[in-house]
Parts: sequence; structure tokens; C-alpha cells
Amino acid sequence: MARTDNDSWDLASSVGVTATMVAASRAMASQGPDPLLDDPLADPLVRAVGLEPFVRLIDGEIDVDDDPLLNRKTRTERITVRTRFFDDFFVAAAEAGVRQAVILASGLDTRAYRLPWPAGMVVYEIDQPPVIDFKTRTLAELGAAPAAEHRPVGIDLRDDWPAALRHHGFHPDQPTAWSAEGLLPYLPPEAQDRLFDHITTLSAPDSRLATEHFPERNAFSDERAQRFTQQWQRLGMDLDMSDLFYPGERSIVVDYLSSHGWQVTAYPARELYERNGFEFPEDQIVAAFGDMSYVSAVRR
Ligand SMILES: C[S@@+](CC[C@H](N)C(=O)[O-])C[C@H]1O[C@@H](n2cnc3c(N)ncnc32)[C@H](O)[C@@H]1O
Repeated sequence: MARTDNDSWDLASSVGVTATMVAASRAMASQGPDPLLDDPLADPLVRAVGLEPFVRLIDGEIDVDDDPLLNRKTRTERITVRTRFFDDFFVAAAEAGVRQAVILASGLDTRAYRLPWPAGMVVYEIDQPPVIDFKTRTLAELGAAPAAEHRPVGIDLRDDWPAALRHHGFHPDQPTAWSAEGLLPYLPPEAQDRLFDHITTLSAPDSRLATEHFPERNAFSDERAQRFTQQWQRLGMDLDMSDLFYPGERSIVVDYLSSHGWQVTAYPARELYERNGFEFPEDQIVAAFGDMSYVSAVRR
């Protein structure tokens, strides 16, 4: 079913499935004697969601080795580049003295539990209420404790989330480290602008923001969505990505942030692959995700 203004989901339906999918990649990248990532909670979280294709994927029971985009190497290296970028962003922000972090669209992200946060750090997470409730409850049942003061906020990012954030104790007069990872395709173009407008308004000088940048104005076209739909089907998931992405012309992230008072640095994905010691699978990655960059910005 196509998206609607007030649609909602949990981690086993609609947009929520994409959070479980990337957590499955992190679980895979955390496996083995010499893992690329150290996210031990990703595996039990994916199992707790209980979607069979993803459990079978992390158990190595689905043979996708011949698929250039789905195979283990491509998936684990891609999620490693992405996860390390956002991890490093938060660690650097904390080292620079920032004591307030907001993880937007947190999904099954476990950074609040696994990063080496300094004393006094407050980490907010925002996602749909069923997503926030499920993760927080499951991690508590697993005996996992947050590594910072953890303030989960269940609200739709198309609603008045700034008010909800303030209600949970957020201080707009203090610098904040924000992340919006894997979120933009699921927001309508105007909601993407609004999201960055709200972040800008809530950001004291020296606040930082990490997100993704796609140089095409229609980066999340139906054509691109179809590539992902084929992947889902290969895994046994009956989900049409054209129903989840918002196509249409949208602002270019680097330009938008630069013109709204942010000093922006873009790191092309191909450079980050190299920095991580991986070969960049040009044909596959650029065809699927576009010539994307990871971006970090500082509010001046
Ligand atoms: C691809 S997942 C990424 C999750 C997480 N950032 C990560 O990288 O593991 C997309 C996430 O965006 C969240 N999301 C998308 N649109 C949202 C909205 N309007 N309000 C709240 N959360 C939203 C979904 O619930 C989901 O958790």
C-alpha cells in the first residue's frame, strides 16, 4: 500500500521493515572471529522482531552469494562504511565537548548502548512509537543498559517532534550532535526540508549534524525503488519499495544545509570505502544508491 500522511508501522511492517533489514546487515557484519563491526545487540533484536527472511539471512540460510548487491561481502562492507561514519561522528562530537545527542529515525540502532559516551551525555532517540517501544523493551529484557542517559521519544517525524523533544528535557541552548541516517527516502520532499529547518532552529552554535547526501533531485525514483524491491523479493519479503520511498524533486542536502547556516563537509562513499580498506563496487553501489556522500556539518 502506498504511503499516506499519517501512516504508521512497527518493525515488521512497511517502513519499519527497513530498520530490521539494516540491523540484519549489522548483525552479519558483527559475526565471525574477525568482525567488521561490534554491534552484539543487532542479532538478538532482529531475532526478536521475528521476520523469518532476516533470521534466515543472519543464520546464513539464504544463498544470495551470486547476487552482486545482496551477497555478504557487499552488504557487510556497505553497512560497515555507514555505521563507522556515524559512530565516528558521535565520538568526535563528544570529544569536542557536546553532551546532547539526538538520533533521528533510530530504528534498531544501538549507539545509545554501545558507544563510549562520556559522563553527562544525554542521548535522545526519535522514531515511531511502536519502534521505540519495541527496541527499548527488548533491550531491557536482554539485560542491556544504555551507556548514557537515554531518553527515547516515540513520535512521527512528520508531527511536532521538536515539542516532544523539549518535553523530554532537550536544551536548544546547548550544542547538539544530530544524526539522520537512512531516513530521507521515507520523508516527502517538503518534510525533508522541514526536518532540516527544525534541526537548524533547535541547534545552538557548534551543533553538528550527520546525514546522507544524494546529488540527484529525484534520488528516490520508482526506478531505483524497483531495484530494492527485487532484493526484498529475493529474500522472500513481499514488500514494494515504490510504496515506501517518496519520489519527486527534493532539495539537495549539501546545498540546503549550506544555505541554512551550516558548514558542510561531504565524504563521497567511494572515499570512505577506500579509507576502510574496501574496494568500491562502483557498478552496484552507484546504480543502487546513486553517487551518494555521507555528510557532516557544523552550525556556525
Ligand atoms: C532504514 S531505517 C534506518 C534506521 C536507523 N537509522 C539505522 O540506520 O539503523 C528507517 C527508519 O526511519 C524511521 N522513520 C521513517 N519515517 C519516519 C517518520 N515519519 N517518523 C519517525 N520515524 C520514521 C523508520 O521507523 C525506521 O526506523
